[in-house]
Amino acid sequence: MLHDNIAINEQGHLTFAGQDTVALAKTYGTPLYLLDENRIRARMRLYKNEMKACFGGESGPLFAGKSICFKGMYRIAKEEGIGIDVVSPGELYTAKSAGFPMEKAFFHGNNKTDADIAFAMEAGVGTFVSDSKEELDQIDRTAKEKGIVQNVLLRLSPGIDPHTFAAVNTGKVDSKFGFAIATGQAEEAVAHALSLSNVKLLGFHCHIGSQIFESKPFCDAADVMMRFIANMSKRFHTPFPVLNLGGGFGVKYVESDPELDFASVIRAIAIHVRTLSDTLSVPMPCIFMEPGRSIVADAGMTLYTVGTTKTITGYKNYVSVDGGMPDNPRYALYGSKYTFYVANKANETADFECTIAGRCCESGDLLGENVLLPRPVRGDILATAVTGAYNYAMASNYNRLPRPALVRLFDGKHELAVRRETYEDLIRLDL
Ligand code: LLP
Repeated sequence: MLHDNIAINEQGHLTFAGQDTVALAKTYGTPLYLLDENRIRARMRLYKNEMKACFGGESGPLFAGKSICFKGMYRIAKEEGIGIDVVSPGELYTAKSAGFPMEKAFFHGNNKTDADIAFAMEAGVGTFVSDSKEELDQIDRTAKEKGIVQNVLLRLSPGIDPHTFAAVNTGKVDSKFGFAIATGQAEEAVAHALSLSNVKLLGFHCHIGSQIFESKPFCDAADVMMRFIANMSKRFHTPFPVLNLGGGFGVKYVESDPELDFASVIRAIAIHVRTLSDTLSVPMPCIFMEPGRSIVADAGMTLYTVGTTKTITGYKNYVSVDGGMPDNPRYALYGSKYTFYVANKANETADFECTIAGRCCESGDLLGENVLLPRPVRGDILATAVTGAYNYAMASNYNRLPRPALVRLFDGKHELAVRRETYEDLIRLDL
């Protein structure tokens, strides 16, 4: 199977985290998101232990909540003792409501409003990752009013192209994110931040992209960032003790994707950063990384019920399910490929080629094309694997479809983590 939390039981049903997905679909209804909590915890521990061992000090992972955001996720992050990256006041509010310690939160975003800045400071966010000069000024003003000094990192674009797909490529010089090092704007921003009395500049951040399967782009980014730290320390006679290298570790969605050994990539980056620290005579910084997808993607699965199946004679077969682009917009947006199973026919031969369509009134509402399945019929349960990241987080109510429930699977048990939206929920805001 694609990952070791997916298997087939004696009834020929697909299991996920050791539990019968057909039974789960019956208990909770479909469409349904499943999350393998033990796997999430194991990944968080792997990042935490490996980063601590390799980089030392207070180094560690910050879970990128943009990949999936609900209160239960922040409870897990809190229990596992890791920090978080939040990118909006809504994520921040969710984390705070879950009792997550705000001093371990890093607040991102390329366009934080004045209200966002005030809200985050009021909530006690530990570190702002600042993306513009105007934002630095506003952070300084707000901190002054509150009588505090706010910890800040500057988001930089190191000019590294990780050759991943364009929509998630963020570290190039002309990116909308951060201060470009190559243009001299990053250096100007350092001078500016150091001139502000209620801002404490701790160091720098970069995020080069997502779905990266090699250590080289991370090492290249670390190279640029460490050299920048060395130059800035020399120029301004001040240390910059924090370096945040962002997220982006690649995940296996289909059999042809590689499987990344996260620990060995962390080790490779660490060796590189330590060497740079020696050769550039820069003290080893506290290193943070911001994995999102690689913590939750393969801990997720979505279940649907098959409805209409249609053969357009001489062309193709359509299999329609009771969800679609509102619960998983990634195929429609990026053409992202997924692995599908017919959960109640998991042992049968997959020889029926089809297009999997959602139920929206839009022909682009597809989940996959040229997919091979055991011939599905109305009432079968279709499972999409590796939907833990950027599915629930990007879900919408398009066509006024209620968002699915989310069930956490842990230690052989299952429990609702987010309830299914009702029709009443859908009209709750309408006046
Ligand atoms: N840190 C920053 C500053 C980021 O912008 C991101 C992702 C992450 C961390 C986490 O990256 P990850 O480890 O999850 O790759 N919606 C797209 C992905 C957008 C990623 C945006 N930033 C998708 O569905 O593929």
